[in-house]
Amino acid sequence: MSKALDNLRLYAGVVRRVGYTLTLGMLNSGSRDELLKLYNSYNGHSPSGQDTPVDPFIIPKTDVFELFGNDTAAYEGVYECGFGHTTEFELKVISNLVKKWNPRRIFEIGTFQGRTTLNMALNSSADTEIVTLDLPADELDATKMEIEEGEVRYVKKEVSGERFIGHPAAAKIRQMFGDSASFDFTDYASSVDVAFIDGSHAYEYVLNDSEKVLTIMRRGGLMIWHDYTNWPGVWTALNELYQKDVRFRGIRHIGGTSIAILTI
Ligand SMILES: C[S@@+](CC[C@H](N)C(=O)[O-])C[C@H]1O[C@@H](n2cnc3c(N)ncnc32)[C@H](O)[C@@H]1O
Repeated sequence: MSKALDNLRLYAGVVRRVGYTLTLGMLNSGSRDELLKLYNSYNGHSPSGQDTPVDPFIIPKTDVFELFGNDTAAYEGVYECGFGHTTEFELKVISNLVKKWNPRRIFEIGTFQGRTTLNMALNSSADTEIVTLDLPADELDATKMEIEEGEVRYVKKEVSGERFIGHPAAAKIRQMFGDSASFDFTDYASSVDVAFIDGSHAYEYVLNDSEKVLTIMRRGGLMIWHDYTNWPGVWTALNELYQKDVRFRGIRHIGGTSIAILTI
């Protein structure tokens, strides 16, 4: 009986997910990737019966920095990305921005595995402090505002920051846990040179995080948002800030990425 119930729950979950992916999800690059993977899994059987790899792109990667020779940043795990991560190119752009800004303090909202946190650590000075705030899985039901259903999977994880834990660069990283809507930012007032906003992608949260982060920025600092082109909550909130709030009039979208930036 419980097996039948489990199957029914699984079936209902799949129907809900597919419904979202084929409708609203089409606006979201993560969902489009999922569709492509599903398509490949249905069409990826060779005549011999052996599965072909899901990812058909076997040609080695290069990118604009390698082509033009002006990428001076150092990386780890740049190509080990999937759902919930910045792309390879975005990670390189962020790393180079961090190098250029030479920050004394970095503040990140949304640690996840810590891939971007680690690369920001690798591209800043030995005495830079990187503070990274993450919502713990056991506080998922206690957030001040609602997060998106599609991002629950990034909150539910065994370890936050697994990419940097045990790494020598982790000495520069301070992990904080909590909900960005309840977190007390006052200790960091006017002290942050680079901020990376990549927590909840819900509209209300993007507004909250943008407003709170603005209070901790030092003059001349750089605010970076991820997923501007990926999540409706992010582009709606950022478009609104850009159009209606003079403090955000200088936001720019870096072409070819989902990154938006603002120099304070
Ligand atoms: C897309 S992942 C971040 C990816 C990461 N910045 C990177 O570049 O690899 C989103 C993260 O935001 C966290 N998060 C979601 N809602 C949050 C909230 N209200 N406050 C703090 N963190 C939140 C999730 O737990 C998750 O780890």
